[in-house]
Amino acid sequence: MKSRSVIGLAALAAGLALAQASALAASAEKGKAAFVQHGCWQCHGYEGQGGVTGPRLAPNPIPFDTLSNFVRTTSRQMPPFRKEILSDEDLADIYAYLQSIPKGPDPNSIPLLNP
Ligand code: HEC
Repeated sequence: MKSRSVIGLAALAAGLALAQASALAASAEKGKAAFVQHGCWQCHGYEGQGGVTGPRLAPNPIPFDTLSNFVRTTSRQMPPFRKEILSDEDLADIYAYLQSIPKGPDPNSIPLLNP
C-alpha cells in the first residue's frame, strides 16, 4: 500500500517534470501565431486584453492547468477547442505568449494619475 503511493507520487513528479519541460520548450512567438490562427483574438483581443465578446486573458494569465482545462472542455459561450483542432503544443505556445505579455505600469507610479 505504502510503496504503491510512493510509485504514484514518483509518477506524478515525473509527469510534472515533463509538463514543466514542455512548458519551457513552448514558444511565445509561435504562440502569438497560434493565437491568431485559431481565432482567439476575435473574442479576446490580439494581446489577450479582452474585448466585447471575451474576457481578458493577459497579463497574468490564469494557471496553465486551469486554462487548458477550460479551453478543452468549456460549454458556455466560448466554443471548446479539442486536441484535434488545437494541439497541446499550440496551447502550450499560446500560454507562453500570454505569459510574455508585459504588465502595465503600476498606476501609482504615473504622476498624472496621482496629482
Ligand atoms: C467566439 C469567441 C471566443 C473565441 C474564438 C475564444 N474565446 Fe475564450 N472565451 C470567450 C468567452 C465569452 C469567455 C468567457 C466564458 C464563457 O462565457 O465561455 C472565454 C473564456 C476564456 C478563458 C477563461 C478565462 C477565465 O479567466 O476564466 C480562457 C482561458 C480562454 N477563453 C482562452 C481562449 C483561447 C486560448 C482561445 C483560442 C484557442 C479562445 N479563448 C477563443 C470567447 C471566446
